[in-house]
Amino acid sequence: MHEQANGFEGRSLTVVNDLSVDEQIYLYEKTRELKEAMAKGEDPRRFTIGDPDLGVYLIFLEDSTRTKESFRNAATFHRVKVNDFNVGSSSFNKMESISDTIKMLFGYSGRSIFVIRSRLEGTCRWLEDALGGYAARIGKPAPSFINAGDGKHEHPTQEFLDEFSFLEQQRWNRESIHIALVGDLAHGRTVHSKVDGLRVFAEVHVDLVAPKELALPAHYEHRMVQNGFRVRSFPSIEAYLSQKEVAPIWYFTRLQLERMGEEVLEKAPLLRRAVTFGREFLSLLPEGTRFYHPLPRHREFPEIPSFLDGLPLNAWDLQSINGYYTRIVEIGLLAGKLGADFRGERRVPPAYPDDFVEEVAVTETKPHDYKVGIKPVENGIVIDHIGRGDDIAAIWDHIDKIRQIMKLNYRSSHGVYHSSSNEIYKGIISLPDILSFDETHLKMLAAIAPGCTLNMVKNSRVAKKYRLHMPTRIYNIEAISCKNENCISYPGHFEQVRQEFYRSENGKFVCRFCERPHNFGEIWDL
Ligand code: NCD
Repeated sequence: MHEQANGFEGRSLTVVNDLSVDEQIYLYEKTRELKEAMAKGEDPRRFTIGDPDLGVYLIFLEDSTRTKESFRNAATFHRVKVNDFNVGSSSFNKMESISDTIKMLFGYSGRSIFVIRSRLEGTCRWLEDALGGYAARIGKPAPSFINAGDGKHEHPTQEFLDEFSFLEQQRWNRESIHIALVGDLAHGRTVHSKVDGLRVFAEVHVDLVAPKELALPAHYEHRMVQNGFRVRSFPSIEAYLSQKEVAPIWYFTRLQLERMGEEVLEKAPLLRRAVTFGREFLSLLPEGTRFYHPLPRHREFPEIPSFLDGLPLNAWDLQSINGYYTRIVEIGLLAGKLGADFRGERRVPPAYPDDFVEEVAVTETKPHDYKVGIKPVENGIVIDHIGRGDDIAAIWDHIDKIRQIMKLNYRSSHGVYHSSSNEIYKGIISLPDILSFDETHLKMLAAIAPGCTLNMVKNSRVAKKYRLHMPTRIYNIEAISCKNENCISYPGHFEQVRQEFYRSENGKFVCRFCERPHNFGEIWDL
């Protein structure tokens, strides 16, 4: 595989967290350097890739003006091969999978960077997995993927240009920021990317201004709090301005009508009123307030009405131009042209320790003489303590799941019992024909019935005993799937994505692709 000469080369930008905070700051500093050099009319060649065998593919499965055109101009700046993929007349219309399409395009250049906007969330993460494996097999450098917005999920490169703009406004002071996020916080991916992007500031105060139908989803708000942000919420601009602590930076987002369900859509005019800036509010703004917006704004019902365009608070126009500079640097980093002088902390990919099997001491050497149903096993496995403490119906459900998912079509007996000493129920499956489970089966069992014990019985004695804990990552199991219909891994899209969830600190199971948290029970298809 191609060596990552500068620590950035060949990487992907699928979410903001694909760059560590230090790497994000480095991106902003490089952008500042580039922007200043260009303003002075200096020769920008030290920033330019100039490799005609590097292909930058623009694949926009949703409409775009600024993101697409700034990427096209940034790629042109680099004097590389720029390809604008025509989605409308491509084989997507013949039901080709996106990984098959990209596999083919990837063959046309020595190195490739794909800039992809899609309605389906997690598309770039999936392609990074799928094409990374393919590239390794054929001995080519893995392509990079840049997420140019995926459904309601993230828009990392918009985030980078937004943060760059805030830093410019604050004259590069990263000590603190006080920002109001106003508008459609429910569906706006640029807002969701702020959860991680604002971490470049040491102290972060976020005011969420949105009626409840457009409120920031709870898991994003939760992560903001986890990141140490102070978060306050207000139902409208009017309510926000009726208190004293008003932010000097306002970040507006458009009502994402195309992503709303019928119910919210019906109320759109009313909701819009709550987040549209009115003339009467002007005098209530703190001195020096600046308005930002990822754009576009609605020409009939703009959240930032046009009477504000000529005022000093208009920061959105220059903000959008910053997309050009930040994207030049992003392409330069992923192509290995920039980044050699980076000295900070690199991104550490999350680790998922496989510590779900714990060997426990065998306290009794003889298996229980179960009174009802289950006969002592001479040689085999007894899965004990299934769903211990749950109600009886839940334990039966666990037993059914284990038998179905692990395909335990063997001679066996199973049931729900409680010991003579207490009324706490548990499930037991005894498998006289099975002498061991492989790693995958153990993991499955741990995921379906965390807390259960596995007794390996030899000559009617418990030879070894293991307790299984909930794994930190659940994958490779047929009966699980992401329940977000907008996720690339959602089975109904037939993209053949391997399902994968990891356990978050608060015990949720987060889809690797769209990052939607699920309750444990939700991930199962049974
Ligand atoms: C945003 C997007 O597409 O997410 N626009 C952009 O990239 N500049 C915001 C939006 O569409 O409202």
